[in-house]
Amino acid sequence: MLGPVILAASRSDRMRRLISAAPVTKQVVERFIPGETVDEIVPIVRELTGRGLELTMDVVGEDITRPEQAAAARDAYLELVERLGELELGARAEMSVKLSMFGQALPGGHELALANVRPVVEAAAAIGTTVTLDAEDHTTLDSMFAIHEELRKDFPQTGCVIQAYLFRTEADARRLAAAGSRVRLVKGAYKEPAEVAYQQKHEIDKAYVRILRILMEGEGYPMIGSHDPRLISIGQELARRAGRKPDEYEFQMLYGIRGDEHLRLAAEGHRMRVYTAYGTDWYGYFMRRLAEKPANLRFFLRSMISK
Ligand code: FDA
Repeated sequence: MLGPVILAASRSDRMRRLISAAPVTKQVVERFIPGETVDEIVPIVRELTGRGLELTMDVVGEDITRPEQAAAARDAYLELVERLGELELGARAEMSVKLSMFGQALPGGHELALANVRPVVEAAAAIGTTVTLDAEDHTTLDSMFAIHEELRKDFPQTGCVIQAYLFRTEADARRLAAAGSRVRLVKGAYKEPAEVAYQQKHEIDKAYVRILRILMEGEGYPMIGSHDPRLISIGQELARRAGRKPDEYEFQMLYGIRGDEHLRLAAEGHRMRVYTAYGTDWYGYFMRRLAEKPANLRFFLRSMISK
């Protein structure tokens, strides 16, 4: 019940101001977003890759209102690529981007987001890595998929995310499960209406398995984005049945969630990529993490009261 309320708050400016200013927030936020600057995140990148994990790096931010902010987002990612280049990690550290941060919702936003994200994808390719386009709310997806298709003409390794909770996703998965594609499947983190999305956990989980089967049986590279132990075992079984070798799919989880499981899967010889977010505009990302697990909210509120 709490999840939808928190997701609604994640889009409220008033709540954003209130929560961002709370004195204890930073300590709680750090569990999921372990740095605000590229200098703070580089040691974490070294540590995680040193432990055999791969990374997808996210500069937090979304729902911007001015084109200058989109240009600033592009520049923040370009700075990140430069620093990753110095670490010579190649495809072990890729990037995830939200097109809303690149201006997608502004007037002329489709073209603006494409123009801003292209240099990042180009710079990533120059250091031997790539970019995955995150999936945001359902109203943004046609534009995201069109930008993905456009970028793939020059950078075929550009990935995208699909969300199991949306009715449309089985059809998207069929279209995307082609040779050379890289597709991350997640359950979906936004508040979506019943006209477009499953609302019940068991329906979403069933859809996840159906869609994962399509990706595993297809010719692309599936990226299993979930912390759900049941879906992880099913993913392993589907990969085995499809005759995939360990380097022909990967698991992905978020920094700060089930960290032991990241290491366990990597130690078992799986490719395990950790989605690692950093930056100052963490509100939307943080609130979605609270919404996914109400116990997180209780912990957050307790830490505010005990201060
Ligand atoms: P589920 O929510 O059922 O969680 C399974 C178990 O994992 C829980 O029982 C709990 O133990 C643990 N867990 C999950 N979330 C937790 C949390 N916040 N705090 C503490 N424990 C938690 N969504 C989207 O809409 N667009 C996107 O682009 C992405 N990108 C993305 C990348 C990666 C790498 C991951 C792993 C996830 C995303 N997501 C996303 C988020 C995704 O849609 C979903 O909301 C979360 O992954 C939670 O769903 P699970 O599959 O983990 O299952």
